[in-house]
Amino acid sequence: MMKSVILSVCFTAAAASAASLTGNWLIAIPNGDGTVQRTYLNLKQQDGRITGTIRWTLHLFTIDRSSGGPGGFTISGGMPILGTERRKTYRGKLAGNELQLKEILATGPGPTLIARRVPAGEGALPPRIPPPPLRPVRWNGLARTPPMGWNSWNKFANRVDDATVRQIADAMARNGMREAGYVYVTIDDTWAGERDARGEIHPNRKFPDMKALADYVHSRGLKLGIYSSPGPVTCEGYEGSYGHEQQDANTYAAWGIDFLKYDWCGAFMIYKDSEMQAVYQKMGEALLASGRPIVYSICQYGVGEVWKWGADAGGNLWRTGGDIRDTWESMSRIGFSQYPLAPFARPGHWNDPDMLEIGNGGMTDTEYRTHMSLWSMLAAPLIAGNDVRNMTPSIREIVLNREVIAIDQDPAGRQGKRAWQSGMREVWTRELAGGDTALAVFNRAPQDARVTFRWADAGLVNPPSRIRDVWRHTDGKAAGPEYSADVPGHGVVMLRVR
Ligand code: GLA
Repeated sequence: MMKSVILSVCFTAAAASAASLTGNWLIAIPNGDGTVQRTYLNLKQQDGRITGTIRWTLHLFTIDRSSGGPGGFTISGGMPILGTERRKTYRGKLAGNELQLKEILATGPGPTLIARRVPAGEGALPPRIPPPPLRPVRWNGLARTPPMGWNSWNKFANRVDDATVRQIADAMARNGMREAGYVYVTIDDTWAGERDARGEIHPNRKFPDMKALADYVHSRGLKLGIYSSPGPVTCEGYEGSYGHEQQDANTYAAWGIDFLKYDWCGAFMIYKDSEMQAVYQKMGEALLASGRPIVYSICQYGVGEVWKWGADAGGNLWRTGGDIRDTWESMSRIGFSQYPLAPFARPGHWNDPDMLEIGNGGMTDTEYRTHMSLWSMLAAPLIAGNDVRNMTPSIREIVLNREVIAIDQDPAGRQGKRAWQSGMREVWTRELAGGDTALAVFNRAPQDARVTFRWADAGLVNPPSRIRDVWRHTDGKAAGPEYSADVPGHGVVMLRVR
């Protein structure tokens, strides 16, 4: 009896000694803007296994595979997100008071990382705050037509800063974008700094004075948007609004913010997917209570059929899926799959298939014309994602095509639908205010094609008396019950007919 007590005391002492991996470890990597990316490894070494968690940006991985010990070990943790498992794996060893680690990436081992011991509890998740009971949020009266503007993420990612936003605003005020309706200039992830003792959020070094920036953007006749998360951290691991929703909404209002993109991210660590509506409702109510008109952009990748409850949560727009990339494959897969969501779009509340990639270089001008046409048929928000300071004439022409924009911004706010399909050829129609119909003939195949369809197949009872080609800017008349269009590979012919 006595002997076993002594033995267990010895084991506990050994586990806590410097030669054990057990403990709370921090990898701290400066982001270059005064903030630090923190990865916490909370490890327990026992019975020949290493267990615990790895907390990194929006992830809390549970370590479920391990081998080795202080002289050399491997740990791997997983976390289910959006139906797939994400995983993080490190190989490392104990060296004095530090862990020397390399992350094992798909491309091989990454650079050496140093983790140092920090007190137990540091980096622990904050306690769970129960979401409010569901109740519909009053419409803020904004976004009667799909919001238009620019967002930093697609082109600049974490390189966005105050000077860039000012230059973008200058460009949009000069190059015709503002007059065409692109008014929201939104700073996406990586602007946030730390909270002060009162819990007030401050921007990081890249944004020295958010109020002054808002004043500047407003002086250019534009509006300023910002980004946060309902979780403790954003997708890039920056401070989120968890537990500070009303305080942050009030801060945004005081700065003069006009648009909030609210990205689920770190909320994955706290809430279940089924709690999203209540969690989004909380910020929807906070924005209303702030007293400033702020467009509310819900971003949770389309989980839980958000189109059915996004408006009740106060959302003016809601992302319908994952992140777009600047490829034909990504853009066309997202865009052409939106047709079942048409019934949910209406003035004030829009399906958001994600921001535009037009001008970012990964697609041809023909493909970008399809991107612009498809998004306009979908009554989608038109949020440019390129460097609008430098646009080629052809990109500028695509982004600024007033006839296409007029279809996107049609006041009836009815989202278009696929009306006819034959293989890779599709005709989409959208009913416009005043009786016109927008009609887009898409050729999703890579080769050029002559597409012939009957007006009746596109839902038009009579052949139209007026056919306006909104890309060629030409007028014509129907020659009979059929219509033929020569459509380039991955291209579109877009018409406004009466
Ligand atoms: C998510 C969003 C993106 C962007 C990034 C920023 O992936 O879907 O649009 O905001 O986060 O971290």
